[in-house]
Amino acid sequence: MSSIKKSFNLEGKVAIITGSSKGIGKAIAKGLAEHGAKVVISSRNQEAVDEVVSEFKANGLDAVGISCHIGKPEQRKNLVQNVIEHYGRIDILVNNAAINPIYGPIEDAEEEVFDKIMDVNVKAPWMLSNLVLPSFKEAGGGSIINIASVEAIHPGAGLGLYSTSKAALLMLTKNQAKEWGQHGVRANVLCPGLIKTKFSAALWQNEKLLQKIERTLPSSRMGMPDEMVGMVCLLASDAGAYMTGSVYNADGGYLIAG
Ligand SMILES: NC(=O)c1ccc[n+]([C@@H]2O[C@H](COP(=O)([O-])OP(=O)(O)OC[C@H]3O[C@@H](n4cnc5c(N)ncnc54)[C@H](OP(=O)(O)O)[C@@H]3O)[C@@H](O)[C@H]2O)c1
Repeated sequence: MSSIKKSFNLEGKVAIITGSSKGIGKAIAKGLAEHGAKVVISSRNQEAVDEVVSEFKANGLDAVGISCHIGKPEQRKNLVQNVIEHYGRIDILVNNAAINPIYGPIEDAEEEVFDKIMDVNVKAPWMLSNLVLPSFKEAGGGSIINIASVEAIHPGAGLGLYSTSKAALLMLTKNQAKEWGQHGVRANVLCPGLIKTKFSAALWQNEKLLQKIERTLPSSRMGMPDEMVGMVCLLASDAGAYMTGSVYNADGGYLIAG
């Protein structure tokens, strides 16, 4: 008899989580490691990554830290090569790292800013996934979880280019699922709502703005990084074996608010 509890087990699996030195990425890495995966902690800063690895190891979790600016082709290649050298396989890729360097009307943004956002938020997940694909094929399959945003579905205020990049990530995911399903690869999107991290500090550090946002949410509060983990563990594991090409929201009801 198959066991639903066992189907969440990730023992023997190797997961790369980009942008996992803090925030949502770190929470996801911890969750995957607690389910038995060996996790690759990564961000631009090796020291920050090493700190997380020490913390995880002190808690009995299996982790390695490899710095990688996902916008840099050589660093992407180095990340994948190092993971293969260290663990010998890759089963799960969480494309989590992203940037939002601008807030304001779309017509005010410089062309260079547009290029930078698309480079890090869309091109990097595309190219990193391509680099990981041969390992997935060798392992007989794999799971990609792309972290987008509710902004991919519903335009907010002043986040136009970020929103556009996340919408592109959403469609990239559907194409990955469609083209790579034949290799046993699944690809899905998680769209977080407002989550308390450094990334969103401009929204929640402003008391009045936060109250205004929270009043409109069915949850009446913003989310925490830990609340993004359950869905990723489901999508990464055999418990989500029939889930691919889809978009899942964890947003406190933001998309039905108003
Ligand atoms: N927080 C929210 O409200 C919210 C809502 C919707 C979606 N999201 C999405 O959730 C994901 C994680 O965001 P977060 O809120 O957890 O942000 P965060 O707490 O600021 O963490 C971002 C992580 O990404 C790393 N990073 C930034 N730029 C990078 C780059 N170019 N290459 C590699 N790593 C990089 C950072 O470390 P280093 O600085 O050391 O590189 C850090 O580990 C993003 O995709 C974001 O768009 C967040």
